[in-house]
Amino acid sequence: MDPEDIDIREIRILPGTKKNGEKEGYDNIVIVPGETISIVGPTGSGKSALINDIEMFARKDTVTGRTVLVNGAHPPEEYVRDPSKKPIASITQNTKCLADLPVSEFLEMHIKARKMGDVEDVALKTIELANEFVGEKISGDVKITGLSGGQTRALMIADAVVISNSPIILLDEVENAGIYKDKVIECVKRFRKAVVFVTHDPLISLMCDKRVVMSNGAVEKVIKPNGEEKSTLKEIMQTDRRIDIVREKIRSGESIADCWQLFGQAC
Ligand SMILES: Nc1ncnc2c1ncn2[C@@H]1O[C@H](COP(=O)(O)OP(=O)(O)O)[C@@H](O)[C@H]1O
Ligand SMILES: [Mg+2]
Repeated sequence: MDPEDIDIREIRILPGTKKNGEKEGYDNIVIVPGETISIVGPTGSGKSALINDIEMFARKDTVTGRTVLVNGAHPPEEYVRDPSKKPIASITQNTKCLADLPVSEFLEMHIKARKMGDVEDVALKTIELANEFVGEKISGDVKITGLSGGQTRALMIADAVVISNSPIILLDEVENAGIYKDKVIECVKRFRKAVVFVTHDPLISLMCDKRVVMSNGAVEKVIKPNGEEKSTLKEIMQTDRRIDIVREKIRSGESIADCWQLFGQAC
């Protein structure tokens, strides 16, 4: 079957083994379009290994021995081998874009390679979406190499959503990269993407539909935030917005003396 004909209804992660070789204790983890999942746990607990399993559509052939199925079956080989058919976009802290081209030209090249119509229009839409995720706006005529880390990641996420049209997006510890994560989560829902965040950020984990807790290379539990957590979430969102305001001010060399007034307006 042509991979492009497959409509991804679910991704299912079946258990493998812990670092000590024992079998993992969970049944399976299902990810569906429009759903957000966070992976939390200490450094070395296996978060990136789990993301890697999803990206590789593991068939007991990774260090964890897990299996990842698409719509209940092994996906076609092309999903893993052919980057243009791969339904997954993976963005990490180290994701860099090496093209020495202006943003618009870079996007237009990608749009043409994907054989999409309305090249300029799609490029504009992509930049518009990326700009929902960052404070310092991206302009189409700036060279990719001149973008900040946050702008680059915002552009890569927007590119994955609009141009690659990837149904699954994996984000490994990109939170301190100056992107508005609540906007990313809202966008994921709007475009019905499945997103997996590896994160140490309490706001992201609480905003996600599920949170997978890792320990010793294994999935220890899967938590669905309940009503009590939702009320805490409101307060954390407010605090987070306030910290964003302070961060932007400090970054641009301003005083934070009038922040209390801004807090009143923004949150
Ligand atoms: N289930 C497992 N079995 C064996 N080794 C594992 C398992 N999970 C992770 N590892 C290994 O442990 C190390 C740390 O895992 P990693 O996923 O990088 O942790 P994290 O991203 O949480 O910091 C890596 O070398 C990884 O290959
Ligand atoms: Mg990691």
